[in-house]
Amino acid sequence: MSNLLIVKGHFLYTKTAEKFEVHKDMFLVSIDGIVEGIYPTVPDRFKGAQVQDYGDRLIIPGFVDLHLHASQFLQCGVGMTKQLLDWLNDYTFDLEREFQNLEFARKAYSCFADKMVACGTLRSCIFASSSTAGTEVLFDVLKEKGIGAYVGKVNMDQNGPDFITETTEKSLEGTKYLINKFKDEPLVKPIITPRFAPSCSTELLRGLGKLALEYQLPVQSHLSENIDEVKWVQSLFESAKNYSDIYLTNNLYGQTKTIMAHAIYLDDDEKKLALKMDPFLVHCPDSNINVRSGIMPVREYLNMGLKIGLGSDIAGGHKMGLNEAMVRAIQLSKLVALNDEELQPLTIAEVFYMATKGGGSFFGKTGSFEKGFLFDALVIEDDNMIAEMYSLEDRLEKFIYTGDDRNIIARYVEGKCLSPIASRT
Ligand code: GUN
Ligand code: FE
Repeated sequence: MSNLLIVKGHFLYTKTAEKFEVHKDMFLVSIDGIVEGIYPTVPDRFKGAQVQDYGDRLIIPGFVDLHLHASQFLQCGVGMTKQLLDWLNDYTFDLEREFQNLEFARKAYSCFADKMVACGTLRSCIFASSSTAGTEVLFDVLKEKGIGAYVGKVNMDQNGPDFITETTEKSLEGTKYLINKFKDEPLVKPIITPRFAPSCSTELLRGLGKLALEYQLPVQSHLSENIDEVKWVQSLFESAKNYSDIYLTNNLYGQTKTIMAHAIYLDDDEKKLALKMDPFLVHCPDSNINVRSGIMPVREYLNMGLKIGLGSDIAGGHKMGLNEAMVRAIQLSKLVALNDEELQPLTIAEVFYMATKGGGSFFGKTGSFEKGFLFDALVIEDDNMIAEMYSLEDRLEKFIYTGDDRNIIARYVEGKCLSPIASRT
């Protein structure tokens, strides 16, 4: 049989955001990278096949980070006393300039990708930099690592420093070049990436929307992240109904699959629009605290039925890996609930769902071990002293809160075991 994989261990995943599915001491069968089923014993038809036995370890779906900046990885934890716009001007843009140097880009992007694999982020939606050649390097590095990603060249033709701002034509031309080069890749694919409304002229936004429609490509950007940013957008786009409308009117908001990071300060019209256009809104709690942006009203959005994923927003967020984002999302939701009892704090199952199946649905069937899903998985080793004392769910909670890349002993993408990696912190 082609590409049969049988894995034994304790499987935990969230079919819905309400609760964990827990399968203790079971055998998961994957064929050609797709989950066939989970069984108490190896079914007769697979008898004789080799079993990869992970003993008492936990096996969970790989994490899906719906928003981060690869070109900012080296800056993690730097400039953390600044507000968003100062942080971008004083630190971030200078670092992003370096990615025009392809030797630097290869080195820095390799560190980034190794850390991502180490942390179990097996699918992600990534901003590269405005350099077309630098972004091409990121595609190549990620392809070599064997993880899934959408990668965007960052489009900017105004209101940024000259050294990373392109002409409208050059920005569109570079985007088109990368689309044509990578659009048929199986794992690492292009995504249209206007940095945010202030960085883009209407002409550039219109051109990008056209490309999204023409090539049927997804879109990612930032939306309503920070009060100063929102005010700036209002002054730049005086005739726009609201921030979301700038993307909407240029075919960059739900006309194709869309990700908007942050979406903290949406007004009522924008909330209705989000329901209608159905973007993925990405909660990036660490970043929102670090650069003093605010708190996404996650419970309100979930109650409305909006799609919410999680993002590290490296380097607004200071740590790679979604353990951090899951914990911080819960902590923030508890603070919010102190002031409003109706807004129930997020549960472990809810944030885990966002970090796996919820965000994963942007990629298709990943983030769960239901039949028909891609077998993207992490094998977690915790302290064997606690393994006897706690339930499997408690052990997973403990990994989320206190664990990190050192607890992940194996990673699978579409049934393929990734090679071991050495990562930097
Ligand atoms: N808005 C525009 N650019 C950025 C960025 O690089 N990071 C964050 N967090 N917000 C942005
Ligand atoms: Fe961001």
